[in-house]
Amino acid sequence: MTDSKSRFGVPTLRTGQAHPHPDPIGGQAYSAVELMPGSRVVMLDQRKLPVVERYEYYTRVDDVAQAIRDMVVRGAPAIGIAAAYGMAAGAMAARGDAASFLEAMKIADATLRASRPTAVNLAWALDRMSAAAAAHASLDFAPRSEAMARAARELHRDEVAACRKLGALGAALVPDGATILTHCNAGALATGGYGTALGIIRAAKEAGKDVRVIACETRPYLQGARLTAWELSKDRIHVEVIADSMAAHFMAKRAVNVAIVGADRVARNGDVANKIGTYALACLAAAHEIPLYVAAPWSTIDLACATGEGIPIEERSEEELSRFRLPDGGAVQLVPDGVPVRNPSFDVTPANLVTAIVTERGVASPASAESLAKLAG
Ligand code: MRU
Repeated sequence: MTDSKSRFGVPTLRTGQAHPHPDPIGGQAYSAVELMPGSRVVMLDQRKLPVVERYEYYTRVDDVAQAIRDMVVRGAPAIGIAAAYGMAAGAMAARGDAASFLEAMKIADATLRASRPTAVNLAWALDRMSAAAAAHASLDFAPRSEAMARAARELHRDEVAACRKLGALGAALVPDGATILTHCNAGALATGGYGTALGIIRAAKEAGKDVRVIACETRPYLQGARLTAWELSKDRIHVEVIADSMAAHFMAKRAVNVAIVGADRVARNGDVANKIGTYALACLAAAHEIPLYVAAPWSTIDLACATGEGIPIEERSEEELSRFRLPDGGAVQLVPDGVPVRNPSFDVTPANLVTAIVTERGVASPASAESLAKLAG
């Protein structure tokens, strides 16, 4: 742990904690979430980035759910992986017979499912882990807990593999020399490794393309400024941060060639729910004839949801908008007392504004019910 000065000369505490896992699936020098031997869940506390790198440990399902709610871990696929690890931790605490194990798993599933509503990856991961619980319920405690841990780590591995696959497919869509605009954080921190939108950028770079990134800061939670810039600069990928309100200016100046974003849920017709502000960027991209690609693993596609109107939009606390949080836990007031604040965390971009949806199964282009149905098989 060392003291250092931030760019504003303010002393900041930097803890560059070493990666705590002996065999991380994340594949980076850091991991958003992993399962430690013994089924402790470890998360890099994303609320403290980019100033402090600190891992937090969880053994109780309720605490994993709270960590998801509080954004210790965030990003649709990473939330799903964290919930899967929460189920594995829950299995470790359930010592009874098959019936009581299944009852404990049912409660764990419901607790985790209620933590955040928009990202469908959460429900997808819990469906998969509840199926694993049913399949292994009759085993003894030790093999049953091991089977649940194995199932969760396999889910994590599958999600990272999906990112790598869609990254390679998406990289083909990125011209050499492109400046790519992205929003929020759809990187390794949001997916458990490699990333979706940032996975495409990483794959383009690995393919030898010269790419530069403009990251929208992403008010109010600043995932772009704090997290995307942190990840890309660690990988030595050229990144500049802009205020969200500057995107139109840079598009009008022809300083953006492609926009690539992630997704929290894609409806059957290709409508896309993603971080608040994505819809505005999609309108701007269309107005400036800039392609907008949505990068998402198949776990984000919700074929049961007909259109974007059916996607629940999370409303987060007023404080996220009306206070500026400081890394030491303090806050600066930004809005006068008594003035109400609205804080929907996501918006829906209609399919007709999305050039293509890049998944590990292939590229749905244009984004539509037909192109997605073809990939669904
Ligand atoms: O509120 P967050 O930070 O969880 O929102 C994250 C996003 O909107 C991401 O763009 C989305 O989850 C895709 S992550 C690959």
